[in-house]
Amino acid sequence: MKQLQVALGKRSYDIIIGQGILSDAATYIAQIAKPRRIMIVTDDTVKALHLSKLQASLETTGLPIKVVSFTPGEGSKSLKSVETLYAEAFDFGMTRTDLVVALGGGVVGDLTGFFAATLLRGVPFVQIPTTLLSQVDSSVGGKTGVNVPAGKNLVGSFYQPKLVLIDTDTLKTLSDSIFADGMAEVIKYGCIVNSELFIALAKAGGRAGVEAILEDVIYTCCDAKRQVVEEDELDTGRRMILNFGHTLGHVIEKAYNFKDYTHGQAVAYGMILAARLGEALGITPKGVTEKISDIIQQYHLPTEIQITGDWQKTILLDKKMQGKKLSCVLLSELGTAVVHTMEAEQFVSEAEKIL
Ligand SMILES: NC(=O)c1ccc[n+]([C@@H]2O[C@H](COP(=O)([O-])OP(=O)(O)OC[C@H]3O[C@@H](n4cnc5c(N)ncnc54)[C@H](O)[C@@H]3O)[C@@H](O)[C@H]2O)c1
Ligand SMILES: [Zn+2]
Repeated sequence: MKQLQVALGKRSYDIIIGQGILSDAATYIAQIAKPRRIMIVTDDTVKALHLSKLQASLETTGLPIKVVSFTPGEGSKSLKSVETLYAEAFDFGMTRTDLVVALGGGVVGDLTGFFAATLLRGVPFVQIPTTLLSQVDSSVGGKTGVNVPAGKNLVGSFYQPKLVLIDTDTLKTLSDSIFADGMAEVIKYGCIVNSELFIALAKAGGRAGVEAILEDVIYTCCDAKRQVVEEDELDTGRRMILNFGHTLGHVIEKAYNFKDYTHGQAVAYGMILAARLGEALGITPKGVTEKISDIIQQYHLPTEIQITGDWQKTILLDKKMQGKKLSCVLLSELGTAVVHTMEAEQFVSEAEKIL
């Protein structure tokens, strides 16, 4: 078992990482909250696989427990789901001293966090992430939200959880492709802040190798995210380095209408492109792109994607644009990210050369 604290003054919280944590959830929760009822939000897949352990633990408290489950997938991260949750919560008699628990991947975590942030102007919530992506990324840092017709994640709030419980055993039921998606974000931490992690991942060589060192890997990623979030909770500066590979990754997702490639796959290739761009601009040392490409291949993520359509427009509409300038995250070396700001037009013409 490993533990770390995200230090944000009154909004500080612990992240607890280990095998079998789900079965001890009641003990950890008792240390941070004294609710009179508990509402668990999950999705149907996670419900079938992992809810029983959590529920058995929480039932030892003798408190009333309500479970609300959604259809798995991005479509459930909607205002309609939030409305369903409000109705269920009022029906259950939730008050501001009760507790909301998110059990699932990033979709459940983001949706539940937003619901908890707005229910009665804020009810405490606990994140229990069950995908690799949510364990290393979305459950930490307090970004919550839903998708609206105008775009993904456009409605939300910063609302920190009271506790993050990471049971590494839950990852055993992930498909290889969902595991690989999470690996893209894990590799990202190696690229931007921790070259030792990058080397360890290259040595691990694939899912089985990572599973042997899972607790350490997740701890290292959460610790990296913790540092960035502590420095820039509201994402106005340093937190931007977490977008490494995401500007061009977003271009790929958009070019394929968010269908042919998953977020992780798009980010994986986006990181290769960002490294290539950094090399072309003389910011990233020669050879880094090849190392990133090699590791991405090891983890069965794409090292080549054709980008078609009006991708220039996607870049110019990027939300990281400030006026006519665009900030992109590049590597000054493997393990160190720098934010590089340039004219959007220059970014487009440099990108044209490497795509
Ligand atoms: N808040 C943040 O800072 C942040 C950061 C990154 C991503 N996100 C968001 O996270 C979401 C993506 O998260 P995700 O990749 O976890 O997707 P997800 O929640 O859709 O989960 C992926 C799939 O895995 C299934 N699943 C979950 N746990 C499982 C398990 N243990 N075993 C088997 N199947 C399981 C789910 O049912 C789902 O079908 C996106 O909506 C993205 O916007 C948020
Ligand atoms: Zn991402």
